[in-house]
Amino acid sequence: MARKQIRFGIIGLGLMGREFGSAAARWCHLLDLDYEPVITGICDTNPALHAWFESNFSTIKVKTSDYHDLLNSDEIDAIYCAVPHNLHQQFYSDIIYSGKHLLGEKPFGIDLQANEAILDIIDKNPEVIVACSSEFPFFPGARRVIRAINENRFGQIIEVEAGLLHSSDLDPKKKINWKRMIAINGEYGCMGDLGMHPLHIPLRSGWMPHTVRAMLSNIVTQRYNAANELVPCETWDNATLCCDVQADDQAFPMYIKTYRIAPGETNTWYIRVSGTEFSIEYSSKYPKTLKTMSYTSGAEQSWTVTDLGYETAYPTITGGIFEFGFSDSLLQMWAAFCDQLSNGRDGMKQPFYCATPQETHLHHKILTAALESNKQGQVIQI
Ligand SMILES: NC(=O)c1ccc[n+]([C@@H]2O[C@H](COP(=O)([O-])OP(=O)(O)OC[C@H]3O[C@@H](n4cnc5c(N)ncnc54)[C@H](O)[C@@H]3O)[C@@H](O)[C@H]2O)c1
Repeated sequence: MARKQIRFGIIGLGLMGREFGSAAARWCHLLDLDYEPVITGICDTNPALHAWFESNFSTIKVKTSDYHDLLNSDEIDAIYCAVPHNLHQQFYSDIIYSGKHLLGEKPFGIDLQANEAILDIIDKNPEVIVACSSEFPFFPGARRVIRAINENRFGQIIEVEAGLLHSSDLDPKKKINWKRMIAINGEYGCMGDLGMHPLHIPLRSGWMPHTVRAMLSNIVTQRYNAANELVPCETWDNATLCCDVQADDQAFPMYIKTYRIAPGETNTWYIRVSGTEFSIEYSSKYPKTLKTMSYTSGAEQSWTVTDLGYETAYPTITGGIFEFGFSDSLLQMWAAFCDQLSNGRDGMKQPFYCATPQETHLHHKILTAALESNKQGQVIQI
């Protein structure tokens, strides 16, 4: 089958830029798609990062340290932008103005003001397709949670808890990087870095909280820089948000955790929804394992544990009994974004589209209220 080629430029060739390169190179993993991304442009101010792309992608036509070169190129239809948060507003705005479609990394602006400026440009350029990167909903277990929410299986929702937990910052000797600097990562700290991940499914489900009480902690307050000088490490390491949700006829508490310092956790994304009739729990810590419990009055309360295997939104060559992982979720997310570019959101081959700019706006409102709550030591209306 001849596939429609979507020519991508990548701005920011670091951790996530390379993940997209790898996903594009692995497109043959996906079955029955009539579109494919082709990496035709790369941009990073660190030229050392060009080499990996050049040695793996013969399709590159534009290589630059100035992202405007990608925006001015006729060889590029769409951009993946994975740069530090202080650059999001300027870069995303310029990309959208240039008419290139955009998958931008979270948090989609360093703060609420930057996010609203980006959304304003999107409103003025409705022909450009824009989405935010968020891959965890493509894990098989997350898909089962979304299905249970769509099927309204819970009865009265008792509570929702979701989080993303890291542990690498437990090591006090870990050198400081831009994600620990307010000027580059933003005042949100760990919430800006990680918050979109646990909030994506709740926001897609219409569970926008109307109040938040946040507890933020800065556990390691100094770190060594590259020159071995001890410098302030100003960002919030851990955040716990206690939210009040009123959705349709349901009112329930929702707890969101974004931790940079959660001992033992590498990149644990989880969600648990407890209800009077049905409860469901999934964590990427045990990627195959889904826990569910159905309950009827007077019956025994017993959790069921199911091995999920490789259940994907977009069919692949991998057998259903095998395990699913982080890079698989990125491949699935990229299939969804390219599906949206190719067929429009209403014509997609499966219904779960990537996080929208409007969803990033809701998440910024929550994080901004969380900062205020922590400052005042009070519950804040959103
Ligand atoms: N979706 C996810 O799971 C996930 C995971 C990690 C990071 N992220 C997000 O991805 C984005 C990038 O994070 P990362 O971990 O890849 O960071 P990184 O530091 O590994 O990569 C960022 C790259 O941007 C480049 N850069 C900086 N200024 C530039 C400029 N003016 N022009 C061009 N390139 C420039 C840097 O040289 C670097 O290579 C952030 O928004 C972050 O929140 C998402």
